[in-house]
Amino acid sequence: MKIQILPSLLAANLATLGDEIRRVADAGADALHLDIMDGHFVPNLSFAPDTSALCQKYLPEGFPINTHLMMTNPDVYAERFIEKGSTTIQFHLEMRDQIDIRALAAKIRALNVRVGLVVNPDTPAEVALEYADCADEILCMTVFPGYGGQSFIADVLPKIKQLRQALPEMDIMVDGGVNFETAELAAAAGANAFVAGSFLFKQTDMGAAIEELRARCTAAYCSAK
Ligand code: DX5
Ligand code: ZN
Repeated sequence: MKIQILPSLLAANLATLGDEIRRVADAGADALHLDIMDGHFVPNLSFAPDTSALCQKYLPEGFPINTHLMMTNPDVYAERFIEKGSTTIQFHLEMRDQIDIRALAAKIRALNVRVGLVVNPDTPAEVALEYADCADEILCMTVFPGYGGQSFIADVLPKIKQLRQALPEMDIMVDGGVNFETAELAAAAGANAFVAGSFLFKQTDMGAAIEELRARCTAAYCSAK
């Protein structure tokens, strides 16, 4: 599996947002992770569809925008983010009793956009496995969503291992509290894609940090196989 590194724009300096978006591409990231919070699914608010358009404007053509909808109604908003340039839409399986997961996944895929299914730390692997056929990637939250800068929850590692064993070809992503050490733990458990917000944006040389993160994750992922 290809190791992927995705800086989360949530940790960027908002005063210079355009430059921060450019910095992500210049640093050699694989995609930009855009966190969308609705004040209902999570207690916080963050960006809007126009932020995806801003990312598209400042990124090189075709650079992937990985949009993480922490919303109770991702079915209402997915298309608006796609219109504004998002190339992956991730939404939460905790909403499975309220929204039709398969219908939403099909709608997103029909627009040639990737589908990411997200599970919170306390949602079991079985829930992700039940819907894995309609996912292009599975995102395991390693914090409870809502805020950047939280600590990595290591209790999620067995779930990552279980998912990797069941889904050897699936992109398995982690998000929350990712740094050199925690990324290595997740990679050794089978994750191949890593969202990092505060850790990457606080670096003076984001490019060097991404290079080291990629090298460490590659080694940990391969040694675990
Ligand atoms: C958490 C968000 C994350 C967040 C990660 O609600 O989904 O993407 O930005 O931030 P760090 O890397 O600082 O934990
Ligand atoms: Zn996120």
